[in-house]
Amino acid sequence: MKIDFNKYPYPRKIRHHVGTNLYFPLKEMTVKPSYYPPILDDEDITIYFNNKKAPDILDIGCGKGKFLLDLSEKYPDKNIIGFEVRMALVEWIQNISKSENFGNVWALWYTVVNGLNFLKEDSIEKVFYLFPDPWPKKRQQNRRLFSVNFLKDLHRVLKNDGKLFLATDCDYVHEHHLAELQKSELFKYKQVEKEEWNFPVTNKESFCIRKEIPIFRLICEKK
Ligand SMILES: C[S@@+](CC[C@H](N)C(=O)[O-])C[C@H]1O[C@@H](n2cnc3c(N)ncnc32)[C@H](O)[C@@H]1O
Repeated sequence: MKIDFNKYPYPRKIRHHVGTNLYFPLKEMTVKPSYYPPILDDEDITIYFNNKKAPDILDIGCGKGKFLLDLSEKYPDKNIIGFEVRMALVEWIQNISKSENFGNVWALWYTVVNGLNFLKEDSIEKVFYLFPDPWPKKRQQNRRLFSVNFLKDLHRVLKNDGKLFLATDCDYVHEHHLAELQKSELFKYKQVEKEEWNFPVTNKESFCIRKEIPIFRLICEKK
């Protein structure tokens, strides 16, 4: 990548997880928390792209954004949007995209537990959901975004030949993905190795590669 990251000092004090509320849909709350990302239901997100068209590719939980920014270089003719609950990371990515005049990549402060109603059906080519927070403890597992409802939403927005890409380094998260995919009956899926995965490396993925931690990858297609 041609970005000179020395120009963009990484935000300090990034917390691993933000307030618990952010992992739950607003409709489940009686009072709107003071710190909660805006609901995008009526948002026109075409404004974030030079060509004023809708996004083609989603990166859900884009984190520190390396993958998102590299992807925009791999697919210069596609509009790519990342969603992330940690606001400082979103601001950092937005600043790079603006300063480098990347007209095809943007990140939004948003918690995807509130759905993807602002995206048209049959409009998205690729969805990446890579190395989600594992939430290993039993009491935390209701914070996981990956569910039959999430898959219904992805199925609605994906084009007929669109694909969903999943990766994790946690065997129990992989098992959770397989179980929800099976329950939903909406996708065909196959486990693949790195050789069949022709995409840039995410921040978490490069950590796993460095430490030789095995990665479970799934490619899912609409039935
Ligand atoms: C373990 S990190 C992985 C980041 C990146 N995909 C990678 O592979 O390096 C998971 C990211 O998902 C974000 N996240 C968790 N729940 C989310 C939600 N409901 N909506 C949007 N982002 C979420 C977290 O803040 C975190 O940055």
